[in-house]
Amino acid sequence: MTLMNDWIDIGRIEDIPPQGARVIRTAQGDIAVFRTATDEIFALRDRCPHKGGPLSQGIVSGKTVTCPLHNWNIALDTGEAVAPDEGCAGHFPVKIVEGRISLLLSMERAKLAVVC
Ligand code: FES
Repeated sequence: MTLMNDWIDIGRIEDIPPQGARVIRTAQGDIAVFRTATDEIFALRDRCPHKGGPLSQGIVSGKTVTCPLHNWNIALDTGEAVAPDEGCAGHFPVKIVEGRISLLLSMERAKLAVVC
């Protein structure tokens, strides 16, 4: 099996507003890339584990995003729903080098990303 790991440059931190998100469209589906108020970056599948709401349109507070449909809170660092809700959006590795954001996409990671 060939291991296919690809860090994809998706732009500068400043391209995402503080406490906002940007959607990256990939062959594995849409990925929501979030920027917190303290400039941390997280990437989740843009699909709420409850009923598929667009997490990229949610409200970012601390390290969580609140789904715009039914207000579930999703942890940005794990993709898991905050208790008492249960479920996981799946998350993707990100790194920041000299102010630019890279997202790790790979066949293997894409499959792992939907498992918390
Ligand atoms: S779809 Fe996100 S809380 Fe219901």
